[in-house]
Amino acid sequence: MSTNTTDNTRKVTTRRLIEMKQRGEKISMLTAYDYSSAKIIDGAGIDVILVGDSASNVMAGNVTTLPITLDQMIYHAKSVMKGTKRALVVVDLPFGSYQGNSKEALASAIRIMKESHAEAVKMEGGSEIRESVERILSAGIPVMGHLGLTPQSINKFGTYNVRARQKEEADKLIEDALMLQEIGCFAIVLEKIPADLARQVAEKLTIPLIGIGAGPGVDGQVLVMHDMLGINQGFSPRFLRRYADLASIMNDAVGHYIDDVKSGAFPTIEESY
Ligand code: KIV
Repeated sequence: MSTNTTDNTRKVTTRRLIEMKQRGEKISMLTAYDYSSAKIIDGAGIDVILVGDSASNVMAGNVTTLPITLDQMIYHAKSVMKGTKRALVVVDLPFGSYQGNSKEALASAIRIMKESHAEAVKMEGGSEIRESVERILSAGIPVMGHLGLTPQSINKFGTYNVRARQKEEADKLIEDALMLQEIGCFAIVLEKIPADLARQVAEKLTIPLIGIGAGPGVDGQVLVMHDMLGINQGFSPRFLRRYADLASIMNDAVGHYIDDVKSGAFPTIEESY
């Protein structure tokens, strides 16, 4: 169990996240894609679990988030929901499930809510997807926005470099954030933008801003669990702090197991029936 001071029993809701911002209490968020991991991080007291489309990278081994399907996201979300009691569970709408038109977007969001029992969806983009966000919100489905670096648009941007360094893009990001708040989003993820800009946006908004590579001036932080636990070792951006080296621990344990099997040291009589 972690030593954090968060109330570890009360269910986290979208409303509670807004109250946390009002109190100045930072919000912790991590990704999870399966039952066992969700159970561990929920038990440790994480506030929000994101069933991210980063599952495409860390679970399926794809280079981008684009290939993951709505069915696959629902499969991951269902597993996470079974392992979660306290955290708010948010599910990414995958690429291609909401950009076409707002009816399709609503149908995708409804499938996620109905089939996985998750509590909110996350969508990448600002003014371009306004109609879809509004339609989903009007059905009573909470939406978390996602601005800055939006990995589903990697083929448009061409790189995963820091976004919104130029005034024009920074101004659009501020406008988009205000618009997402105005239409009813309960929170926004800000990915890989300058810390000063992220702080400015957090000060302008009453809904929480959760940063990843957006510095300390926002209302909470999110990381991909496989990156921060050192399971995924091939990714080391400046913003990533590694809290464990699970790849080495797993490698050593598996090596030890192989040795024991090969030598006959496992199993013993006590480990047999
Ligand atoms: O899919 C994901 O993991 C995300 C986070 C990086 C915010 O969107």
